[in-house]
Formats: sequence, structure tokens, C-alpha cells
Amino acid sequence: MAPYKIVMVRHGESEWNEKNLFCGWFDANLSEKGKQEAVNAGKALKDASYKFDIAYTSVLTRAQNTLQAILKEIGQSDLETVKTWRLNERHYGGLTGLNKAETAAKYGDAQVAIWRRSFDVPPPPMEPDHSYYETIVKDGRYANGPAPDQFPKFESLKLTIERTLPFWNDTIVPQIKAGKQILIAAHGNSLRGIVKHLDGMTDDAIMLLNLPTGIPFVYTLDENLKPIKSLEFLGDPETVKKAMEAVAAQGKAK
Ligand code: 3PG
Repeated sequence: MAPYKIVMVRHGESEWNEKNLFCGWFDANLSEKGKQEAVNAGKALKDASYKFDIAYTSVLTRAQNTLQAILKEIGQSDLETVKTWRLNERHYGGLTGLNKAETAAKYGDAQVAIWRRSFDVPPPPMEPDHSYYETIVKDGRYANGPAPDQFPKFESLKLTIERTLPFWNDTIVPQIKAGKQILIAAHGNSLRGIVKHLDGMTDDAIMLLNLPTGIPFVYTLDENLKPIKSLEFLGDPETVKKAMEAVAAQGKAK
């Protein structure tokens, strides 16, 4: 019965976030700070008395480990969890592994901002000779998709949304409408895509959204899944603001 609430959280800081490297589909672990952010996210959800019926996450370790830390904090370590590549971070293509600030120094802050935050401008493709191509394409966790001929070599936010929305519409929406309490632990850009969809954000408006690591946010939705309340973070507003600004600054030349 509406209104529905759904909780989403970007994974805690990864080791590649810490090094300010474009990560995408590379399977980076959480940094020590990121592990603590995940525990803190769990504590915040516990303090707010959240309990869940099902969780969704990506096939990437940083999101899964964030989810597990949260579930441990709220006493739901055995919660049913669905893992899907469709919630993966956007594939950063040929930028994968490059330092964001160094890339901005080479190509300009504006170009990196376009690659990171634009709606339909993709990064350059990850070619077969890319140092991370084999480790990503041959990862057994993609045995159930995407199909080899559909395996991304790069993704714009538009392309990311196009592969996330079928999962959102076909799997998550029916559970929301069935009244299930849902937690999604995913990535900055796969979540930006869901936010853009829910709020009907313009292509220009979405460029301004940077999601902080490890701070859960809540959507309250009406019977038509239109937001009654959007992006309510479980953190103090100043902390959230500073964290968003820090994410934005990652793409600027030093
Ligand atoms: C990455 O994939 O590099 C990060 O997890 C998200 O990067 P972004 O904030 O530069 O889009």
C-alpha cells in the first residue's frame, strides 16, 4: 500500500576511489575508509529502525561488501539478496584505471566532467589490448549476462540507464508494489540513472548530481511510483553536501 519507501546506497569508498582512478567494471575492493563508511551506513539504518524484505546489488565486490556490512549492522545478514550486472557501475571504457585528476590535466576539467556526468556522451571504448580488458570480459560472474555480443566496452549514463531500467521495471517495481521493504546497494552512476528516472530529471540537471559513498538515501513513492520525497539522506546535510562536493572535485586537475 502506497506510499512506498525504498532505500538506496552507493558503496563505501573503494581502493580505486581512494587512488582517484576511473573504476567502472573493474572489481575494486573497499578501502579501509570505505569499510567503515559501510558500517556507519548500517548503524544509521539501524538507528532509524529500518528492516528489509529483500536487497539488490551488483556483481561487483565493493557494492556486495557494502551491503553485507549494512546487513550485519541491522541484524539481517541472511537477507535474501539478488545480484545483477544491471546494477553495476557505468563501464568507464578506455578511461578505466586512469587517474581522474591526471586525465583532467591532460584533456581539461570540462572534458572529464562530460565523461563523468553527461547523459549521452560515452567515454572512449575499452579496446581488447587494454590492460583490464581480459580481467573484466572473462570474469565468470558475467556468465548469465550481458551476452558476449552485448558486453559493454564503454557506457554513457544513457546506456547505463538502458540496461538498469529493465531490471528496475521487471524485478524491483513489482516488489515495491507488493509492499516489500527494499534496499539497493549499488554505484554512483547506476544509482544516478535510477534517480534520473524516478525524478524525471533533465539531461542537464543530472549533470549536477554527485552521489556520496556510503550514505543511504530514501525515496518515498506514491502508488504510481512518483516521488513524494526524493533523495532523503540518512546523514547531516552539511556532511552530505561536503561529500557530494568531494566527489565532484575528483575530476578536476590538481
Ligand atoms: C568509478 O567508477 O570511477 C567511480 O565509482 C565513480 O566514478 P565517477 O564519480 O567519476 O563517475
